[in-house]
Amino acid sequence: MINSSHNLHDDIADILIDEKTLQARIRELAHRITDDYRHTDDLLLICVLKGAFMFLADLTRDLERPHELDFMGVSSYGASTESSGVVRIVLDLNQDIGGRNVLIVEDIIDSGRTLDYLRRILLARSPASLRIVSLLDKPDRREVDVPVDYTGFHIPNEFVVGYGLDFGEIYRNLPFIAILKSEVFAHLNT
Ligand code: IMP
Ligand code: MG
Repeated sequence: MINSSHNLHDDIADILIDEKTLQARIRELAHRITDDYRHTDDLLLICVLKGAFMFLADLTRDLERPHELDFMGVSSYGASTESSGVVRIVLDLNQDIGGRNVLIVEDIIDSGRTLDYLRRILLARSPASLRIVSLLDKPDRREVDVPVDYTGFHIPNEFVVGYGLDFGEIYRNLPFIAILKSEVFAHLNT
């Protein structure tokens, strides 16, 4: 656990994307998705837990097409800031996605390993279509090429927290995307 004797906001070096900018961009993405799915009443959003929970909550409220929600849990990081490259499914879907129009909702694409793995697994279940929306993208870090259909923001190669994203499971509740002070990482004992 990270030092608990101080306020969360004391750990923040910088706000990279503020709340207003996030909300405006998410609304734009939702309008595009609404438009792109206007010819169908079948749309299933799959939220990748835990990081995408806040993005999903805002995106779903701005979508104007009927859609269902489901959740998948994947884990690739442990308590570090570097991907281990090993992706584990910790929660699977409750339903068959065969013949469905599926949209994966992800918080961030970094190396691309998590989405590549998830995409392969879901494609093997024969959806009618499979698209990806990712709030954030760190293009400089890509190791595996993954087709992302909708991207909120391209960001530099910095470890970010907030708006669902964590460091050691903390900071997910922040309503903006932030960069932590370097001393926060020094508390990590791995
Ligand atoms: P990838 O497999 O390397 O693309 O990593 C994707 C996953 O790593 C995301 O779903 C996040 O959970 C996590 N991740 C990547 N970059 C960050 C970051 O800057 N802050 C917090 N989590 C991150
Ligand atoms: Mg994630």
